[in-house]
Amino acid sequence: MKLLVCGGAGFIGSNFVRIRVREHGDDVVVLDKLTYAGRRENLHDVIDDVRFVHGAIEDPSAVADAIDGVDAVVNFAAETHVDRSIAEPDAFVTTNGQGTYVLLEAARKAGVRYVQVSTDEVYGSIEEGSFTETSPLQPSSPYSATKTGADLLVLSYFHTYGLETLIARGSNNYGPYQYPEKLIPLMVLNALHGDKLPVYGDGMQVRNWLYVTDFGRGIGHVLEQGAAGEVYNVGGPDECPNIEVVKRIVSATGNDDSLIEYVTDRPGHDRRYSLSSEKLRGLGWEARVHFAEGLQQTVDWYRENTWWWEPIRSGDYREYYERQYGRALG
Ligand code: NAD
Ligand code: DAU
Repeated sequence: MKLLVCGGAGFIGSNFVRIRVREHGDDVVVLDKLTYAGRRENLHDVIDDVRFVHGAIEDPSAVADAIDGVDAVVNFAAETHVDRSIAEPDAFVTTNGQGTYVLLEAARKAGVRYVQVSTDEVYGSIEEGSFTETSPLQPSSPYSATKTGADLLVLSYFHTYGLETLIARGSNNYGPYQYPEKLIPLMVLNALHGDKLPVYGDGMQVRNWLYVTDFGRGIGHVLEQGAAGEVYNVGGPDECPNIEVVKRIVSATGNDDSLIEYVTDRPGHDRRYSLSSEKLRGLGWEARVHFAEGLQQTVDWYRENTWWWEPIRSGDYREYYERQYGRALG
């Protein structure tokens, strides 16, 4: 299959490209703007096997170049960090909204299948039970609101134009190549450096952890076997409160709990996410990696791959961190 993977230089996109090239022998074109979160390094071992187009999904000419001759589009490209969306929502509207529109138009003209990579955050927070694909959409943050808008636009292209669209909504991903603004890599790198571990609020918010290769394979199932116009949840096998995640990282890095620091809560912080993935299981998908195993693999990966994160920790990230947490990295 010849695939256009938008946002393929980011965390989940690069893991997906690796799976498609190595396990499926796909011919892959990557279109990526290379924002702070997108890095060629994320594709270091497959970069010679793909065609890389440096450009933005909201730029119709870059998209027209990249989409030429492909069988399907998978869109990972997005602004993805909730805290950044609270501080500066602008880029979220442009990329997640306008960018998705430009891609849909290009897919419509080319007449190709379109998979939108979406998130459990479109459903908002749930105290008990799990969201299904028919649960109401109640996003809380500018990030999740722009992702929700994009999902609705994608569905409209199926209903109005008959474009073969599909949506895969994932829960919280973790694993190699995740930028250290997100909970797990931030805590792992801080713990390895003896920096404080900033836990928002009471730390009792619950996330539904999904190993990144399980999400990548789930998206592959949706791409190959999903029914046009449908939405599929892709949830992780385990849920865990943030404070327990952090304590496990403390222990896996040989530290003690004195590194933990409770800090001001995130505004509008969703308390709990939980997805039911029965519909995707019906297509034969199953998450393979449990949280205990995946977290240990992730800690090991960051410990062993200093080449990947050293340039991040010594670059602009230091300024981001100081702005966000009001303290410098050690
Ligand atoms: P990421 O921030 O690591 O990567 C995003 C990628 O998109 C980067 O390579 C970046 O350069 C690229 N990009 C950003 N704006 C662009 C633009 N305008 N044009 C082209 N490329 C652009 O994100 P991620 O965590 O890998 O998330 C990928 C997708 O999966 C997103 O759509 C996100 O909403 C969704 N998702 C993420 C999670 C998670 O836990 N991280 C869970 C469910 C769904
Ligand atoms: O649920 C899927 C979503 O998961 C994706 O759609 C988003 O792109 C992705 O960023 C992620 O969103 P979260 O807000 O859940 O992830 P984050 O890693 O930012 O935070 C996870 C939890 O940890 C959340 O409850 C906030 C908390 N947290 C986070 C950071 C960065 C802290 O307590 N301290 C921190 O320093």
